[in-house]
Amino acid sequence: MRTPLIAANWKMHKTWPEAATDFTALEGELSARKAAQAALPDVVVCPPYPMLALYPLLFPGGASFALGAQNVHHEASGAYTGEVSAPMLTVLGAAYVIVGHSERRRDFGEDAVVGAKVARALEHDLTPIVCVGETLDARRAGETEAVVGAQLAAALAAVTPEAAAAGRLVIAYEPVWAIGTGEAATPEAAQAVARFIRAEVAERFGAQAAEATRILYGGSVTADNLGGFLAEPDIDGALVGGASLDVRHFLRLVDLAAGRPADRTAHDGG
Ligand code: PGA
Repeated sequence: MRTPLIAANWKMHKTWPEAATDFTALEGELSARKAAQAALPDVVVCPPYPMLALYPLLFPGGASFALGAQNVHHEASGAYTGEVSAPMLTVLGAAYVIVGHSERRRDFGEDAVVGAKVARALEHDLTPIVCVGETLDARRAGETEAVVGAQLAAALAAVTPEAAAAGRLVIAYEPVWAIGTGEAATPEAAQAVARFIRAEVAERFGAQAAEATRILYGGSVTADNLGGFLAEPDIDGALVGGASLDVRHFLRLVDLAAGRPADRTAHDGG
């Protein structure tokens, strides 16, 4: 059985004091659930780079949630002005890194380096959350599987079968047209692509790797639609942007993934 995973992508939001407040609040809530021996999904928070440093400062003994970065450079060090390397992330306690987010692919032309970033992340003990997804034009043209298949082939080119079989891969299906639009995919449409992704992983790395790989859905996830995605057999969690910014709303997502009735009195902050 794969442990569900709920990942927050804060994108370019929150300052240092805001992030400190939210990290502390989230940790308080999660550790209370742990103390009550409640089931928890794996929870990952991906703040902007500077706020990664809050994690070891606030939680020197570790935390109930894992830390993730939103990107990483594909080289381990060098003359790359403005970039951040995998060893810089791991030393801060990051365990995950988002790679190939559609905003990086679109705004920074990163399609060609996704495979190298995934390999570098794995080499430095970071679990890559590999984002794939088609544009609206591609979907309308019936090219969803062709686009996602090509993105996967490039992203996974340098991944070893051992890493895949050990569950070191997380793949987020994020249709570009659903990101930040309020128009999530239907659970059925997301499941169809998630099944395709799992089959691609199986073909490349074998059945054990396919079973071990967690596949997330991302794109306008909220507490109102998450349950539908989690009910699908090939969807193991969510990568959440807007609805992750408010801690109370994000906790509703965590509780839904834990199989607990979410706190319906919490404000809808997404
Ligand atoms: P959204 O973003 O939840 O705001 O649609 C998801 C993402 O881009 O990862």
